[in-house]
Amino acid sequence: MTACIVGWAHTPFGKLADQTVESLVVNVTNAALADAGIAAADVDEIVLGHFNAGFSAQDFTASLVLQASPDLRFKRATRVENACATGSAAVHQGLNAIAARSARIVLVVGVEQMTTTSAADIGRNLLKASYVRDEADIDGGFAGIFGHIASLYFQRWGDQSDALARIAAKNHKNGVGNPYAQLRKDFGYEFCRRESDKNPRVAGPLKRTDCSPVSDGAAALVLTDLETALTLNKAIVFRAAAHVQDFLPMARRDVLKFEGCALAWQRALAQAGVALNDLSFAEVHDCFTIAELIEYEAMGLVAAGQGARAIDEGLVAKDGALPINPSGGLKAKGHPIGATGVSMHALAAMQLAGTAGDMQIKNARLGGIFNMGGTAVANYVSILERLR
Ligand code: COA
Repeated sequence: MTACIVGWAHTPFGKLADQTVESLVVNVTNAALADAGIAAADVDEIVLGHFNAGFSAQDFTASLVLQASPDLRFKRATRVENACATGSAAVHQGLNAIAARSARIVLVVGVEQMTTTSAADIGRNLLKASYVRDEADIDGGFAGIFGHIASLYFQRWGDQSDALARIAAKNHKNGVGNPYAQLRKDFGYEFCRRESDKNPRVAGPLKRTDCSPVSDGAAALVLTDLETALTLNKAIVFRAAAHVQDFLPMARRDVLKFEGCALAWQRALAQAGVALNDLSFAEVHDCFTIAELIEYEAMGLVAAGQGARAIDEGLVAKDGALPINPSGGLKAKGHPIGATGVSMHALAAMQLAGTAGDMQIKNARLGGIFNMGGTAVANYVSILERLR
């Protein structure tokens, strides 16, 4: 592949009551362009990732990016949506424009504002990313869907409550080092393992600490072709980008296998010409701890039914063979739907540039990203490497 990330920006994630979708977008747009050293006038194409589905009264948000600078007026700008993988959908759309040589410089922005919506409406909005005809009646919003998946997994492979609590504890510990994270607290294994007033059951076997929080936030990237990147200060190159879309209804799939995730990893690794154990780290989609557990299996780290081994044996710890979610993941960082995939790419770029501060993995050379929409319906894997 020939596209690079040459600049990035990230707001803190959390309850940002004094912000709007527009102010978040404007903030990261200007910051990413400044970080890349690229003028707004030189941008060829703009892609905005924004799920919305009722969170913001303002739909049709692509042109909000133009509010950042009059020099963005009249540029091609499009909003894309692919549920919780909306951010990566925007990134990959930008890559396609560069690959097609219809753009040299692409600005990618991801945004969501969720916390201004009532709890009942948050659940309803998120369930629009299920197969509504059959699946949206479930209690507990999207946590209900993943609570159901966790119950099915426990039935097939035995109770995994210990492993889920270890995943939550790992990600919360890692998140302490992330200045953009919503929850910067090391809750510890015991707290995550035990149901309590402060850690109540949410859906099925999932407790509060098994869920990513409801968040506001934005992130942005500047992508360029290779020739342009080589003239700039920093360049993180895409070794691979794979997108696999699966059936929407859970009834049409073995939902415990995350087959789309598995195929996306296989395709991306083949495209990059590397093996999983060549990666220095991966940022993966832990919307719920059970998702991260199943992803260990789908990405090929351990065999089916053995996800718990990856966490129990320390493979995925920050100092393990393949550190997973050194940023704290969605669990600690927060999950403002449209921003998440862009955030994953920005954080991976920071790791590879050696500017990840307290999140830094030593000698990070190759980074993997897996961003998922729905129940492994939209599956995006990117593999990144530092070029300069
Ligand atoms: N993990 C850990 N702590 C959390 C948390 C989470 N996911 N969500 C909230 N908290 C903390 C808050 O910081 C707060 O702490 P404090 O009392 O020390 O200030 C406390 O829990 C209560 O916060 P509140 O917002 O009232 O929690 P809640 O019970 O209303 O919401 C969830 C918790 C898990 C239900 C909510 O975060 C949720 O719905 N998450 C899933 C979102 C989702 O489905 N995303 C899409 C994924 S595909």
